[in-house]
Amino acid sequence: MRIGILVTHIRPEEKLLIAAFRAAGIEPDILLDRELNFDLLAGPEQRAPSGVAWADYALILERAVSTSRGLYTLAIINAWGIPTINSSQTAHTCADKLLTTLALARAGVSQPPARAAFDSESALAAVADLGYPAVLKPVTGSWGRLLARVNDRDAAEAVLEHRETLGGYTHQTIYAQAYVEKPGRDIRAFVVGEHTICAIYRTSPHWITNTARGGQATNCPVTPELDALCQRAAAAVGGGVLALDVFEGPDGQLLINEINHTMEFRNSSAPTGVDIAGEVVRYALVQARVTA
Ligand SMILES: Nc1ncnc2c1ncn2[C@@H]1O[C@H](COP(=O)(O)OP(=O)(O)OP(=O)(O)O)[C@@H](O)[C@H]1O
Ligand SMILES: [Mg+2]
Repeated sequence: MRIGILVTHIRPEEKLLIAAFRAAGIEPDILLDRELNFDLLAGPEQRAPSGVAWADYALILERAVSTSRGLYTLAIINAWGIPTINSSQTAHTCADKLLTTLALARAGVSQPPARAAFDSESALAAVADLGYPAVLKPVTGSWGRLLARVNDRDAAEAVLEHRETLGGYTHQTIYAQAYVEKPGRDIRAFVVGEHTICAIYRTSPHWITNTARGGQATNCPVTPELDALCQRAAAAVGGGVLALDVFEGPDGQLLINEINHTMEFRNSSAPTGVDIAGEVVRYALVQARVTA
């Protein structure tokens, strides 16, 4: 069975995934996103950078750091009928915080109040509707970059003016969320198919708790409540291999903050004792189609 892994470069996660595929007796092809060159009018008989026809792949695991390269590649090869993790539809929803919020709302999954606006004046009104403090976020992006907690109208005006003057296309959409008073941590839960395989707490003195920003990872028990919420949230965005950010609200209620479709997990296997790469590979082999 031929498996391809689409990467921008090999991170610790991809090393773990390659090792897990090898343990399952499969040598995956590494496809570099910078080498992709698609004939959009032709089909899957054309060759991937590996020299193999796309049609010969049983599954492509998308692990690109570049969101746009990952999303377009998924759109193209899914259109050819080649299975991918994640699906183009799931990835497009998760890559955009506004679309994720809509999908969760449609499914009735609990999440922080959020609003969208397209102009600085209406964005100020949106933030006032949410109440201060609020959080302004780019609709796309990760590692906690360009997140702003605004405690009052002056701060909101400053951030919105910077965005309008300096921001690119994706910064012209204002996504604002109510600030959730977390207990010094949030939860990162890992869903693979129908299972919430493990979760970590990310503890930090800073309100942004990402491990990429210094948050400490410890094991978080997957309670039936957490599992049920994560399953519903994952299904709402189309399912697959996903990392969910979960907040514990002041009343203890669990809220889904966002969902990541190309998750990092290098810091999460040690505290949880779960072989995350191994679980992903087991799921990938079930999703892979039978090829000639
Ligand atoms: N509304 C909020 N209330 C409280 N804390 C928040 C809120 N939004 C974000 N945070 C904090 O900031 C962190 C990063 O936010 P978020 O996950 O939305 O951004 P990101 O850049 O997409 O991160 P990721 O690396 O997970 O993709 C969260 O894990 C949380 O600690
Ligand atoms: Mg996050």
